[in-house]
Amino acid sequence: MYKCKTFMLATLLVLGSASIAQKKVIATKKTIDQRVDSVMKLMTLEEKIGQLNQYSSKDEVTGPMSDNGSRKQQLVAGKVGSMLNVRGAERTRKVQEQAMQSRLRIPLLFGQDVIHGYKTTFPIPLAEVASWDMQAIEMGSRIAAIEGAAAGLHWTFAPMVDISRDPRWGRVMEGAGEDTYLGSMVAKARVKGFQGTNTGKLDEMLACAKHFAAYGAAAGGRDYNSVDVSERTLWEVYLPPFKAAVDAGAATFMNSFNDINGVPATGNKYLQRDILKEKWGFKGFVVSDWGSISEMVDHGYVKDKKDAALSALSAGSDMDMEGQAYLPHLATLVKEGKVPVALIDDAVKRILRKKFELGLFDDPFRFSNEAREQQQLNNPQHRIAAREMAEKSIVLMKNEKNILPLSKNIKKLAIIGPLAKSEEDMLGFWNVAWPDNSDVVTQYEGLQNKLGNNTELLYAQGCGITDTSRAGFAEAIAAALQAEVVIVSVGEARDMSGEANSRANIHLPGVQEELLKAIHATGKPIVVLINAGRPLVFNWTADNVPAILYTWWLGSEAGNAIANVLLGDYNPGGKLPMTFPRGEGQIPIHYNYLNTGRPSPDNDTHARYRSGYIDMVKSPKYAFGHGLSYTTFTYSNLQMSKPTLAANDSIIVQFTLTNSGKVAGEEVAQLYLRDEVASVVRPVKELKDFTKLMLQPGESRTIRFVINKEKLSFYNQQLEWAAEPGTFQLMIGSASNDIRLQSKFELQ
Ligand code: BGC
Repeated sequence: MYKCKTFMLATLLVLGSASIAQKKVIATKKTIDQRVDSVMKLMTLEEKIGQLNQYSSKDEVTGPMSDNGSRKQQLVAGKVGSMLNVRGAERTRKVQEQAMQSRLRIPLLFGQDVIHGYKTTFPIPLAEVASWDMQAIEMGSRIAAIEGAAAGLHWTFAPMVDISRDPRWGRVMEGAGEDTYLGSMVAKARVKGFQGTNTGKLDEMLACAKHFAAYGAAAGGRDYNSVDVSERTLWEVYLPPFKAAVDAGAATFMNSFNDINGVPATGNKYLQRDILKEKWGFKGFVVSDWGSISEMVDHGYVKDKKDAALSALSAGSDMDMEGQAYLPHLATLVKEGKVPVALIDDAVKRILRKKFELGLFDDPFRFSNEAREQQQLNNPQHRIAAREMAEKSIVLMKNEKNILPLSKNIKKLAIIGPLAKSEEDMLGFWNVAWPDNSDVVTQYEGLQNKLGNNTELLYAQGCGITDTSRAGFAEAIAAALQAEVVIVSVGEARDMSGEANSRANIHLPGVQEELLKAIHATGKPIVVLINAGRPLVFNWTADNVPAILYTWWLGSEAGNAIANVLLGDYNPGGKLPMTFPRGEGQIPIHYNYLNTGRPSPDNDTHARYRSGYIDMVKSPKYAFGHGLSYTTFTYSNLQMSKPTLAANDSIIVQFTLTNSGKVAGEEVAQLYLRDEVASVVRPVKELKDFTKLMLQPGESRTIRFVINKEKLSFYNQQLEWAAEPGTFQLMIGSASNDIRLQSKFELQ
């Protein structure tokens, strides 16, 4: 712990020196532009187009791939600007050597989905967001970049900053959940973490904000599906995290597979040129998603790959990832006068600039260093940070009669369930280490590591994750009957969330709920661990089992982190970054919905002629921001510096937070606002600020939030970002449905 804190401090000091580093970047910028221009002058049109072409190695693919001719020959001929899925110091060096045989010796950029760690696997991104701890999230991305860069990589395809209100969509595991404010904070933290000081240091990677845009609004939660969003929702809900990524200096963007209101994002000029490059002044480059340029043919948006190339480049997609549309067609399009060379030049310059900034023209092999790779991939401090992050990610959903934490004096403890000894599922989707799971500490091992000799640990698998055999139930019941307390570990397999893993049914798969019922029938106290890449529906468990920890997929250190929480060495403080529905029929579901003209009471069915359901209450099972602790917190003494706010003024809100329980713990105090009357209907509440702090038992601290015009602004009827005078409700609480303090103020 101490060591890791020191490490964190040292790293943050480096991050803190960004202003000096930035000055350096500005000083060298001109030189870089001049150097880019001098290379451009030497390049033929074909060589320029080569820079816009990205291929994958054949080892890891996430989409269809065809090989038209030898890729090696194309590398040598300068027809490839970047490779993805080539990793490791040795391999990147070998492939770079091929590029170095090309006429102009322009180095390749090596990209990879380094999403939540490289060798040391951190919790899945959605789990990390449950920590609401921006410093820790930044550190997770920092360490991922340190390891990725040590393995010869220059560029990560992360962070994914897609907001989503649909837990059926498998890719929610990769994002920051449903809230735009929280998502924007996370976007910044991750970009800063991956890119560090932004000066091409050997432990930094280029970040890539993806998927531009609104990919998380896929209709029906079906991956790759169409998106139909209003202009207001696009600007208010889906775009801000991307803007935050630009503001944090994200080097690259990736566009998305979906169409938005009928126009594929990849061929969408409004998004990529008008908003991103012009309005936001983004100076980096845009890579397509895998094959998304050529997939515009399947969308029925263009007739062939040549048209796709024309559409995508014109719209501002600079690099073609495995679409194989730019390389064969752009030169013809230029010759036919359909694509101005200036557009190609702009795209090439954006890419070359990054290669210069990374120092690759000075030394194309500078990231490929086996000794550094060895050292960083086995850095024990990274494991400590991964364990700390895993602990912070765990959410205590329920804890009746304070059954948790468990006593260390238990003589016989059972851990049962298909995930108790699982290695690979702990890694979660998007895992670079996979299929090498050797580093994972399972939940069983974590408990073994923790428990002394006087506790016997019993185990039974009980059932599989998805199969329907009940053959293991008897053994599981027998183990449960012998134990004083039973831990049951259930959930999803690692490939049940993530890309192309949308689910229409988000209940516990297979016969896991039946296993839980059988164990519950023994009458033994039960603690359930739910491992998943998304919010699941588990109503029976929630209603019948006394204690539930949501443990997501927590990475290499999952078992140790979970054992620390179960036995009280770490007091959980995670809060849900997504709403958990009672049933799929409630989806899309989110806390910041608009009131209707006929709102229904939260917990009432059959409220006739009201906006609800006749067969299910409208409230979620677990609300956004929910998460308990082994201690309790009291909120009191709310004060506002004034009741009225002038347009260029601010109100300071303060209150006292007290740890009213018996153990130290962390609370995330959340500030929500509601604009009571506005020119467009506003959400019933919106997260506008939060703070996380640790309090000792009995300790009180004063918390302050500043409310200014920016926090009150929204896209008005004219789609202008503005605040409107009137009354605002102020709500402060422990969750979006657990508001402890309330007041009102006026904007003049
Ligand atoms: C995913 C991207 C990913 C890319 C490269 C695509 O299928 O949508 O997020 O970066 O593959 O692996």
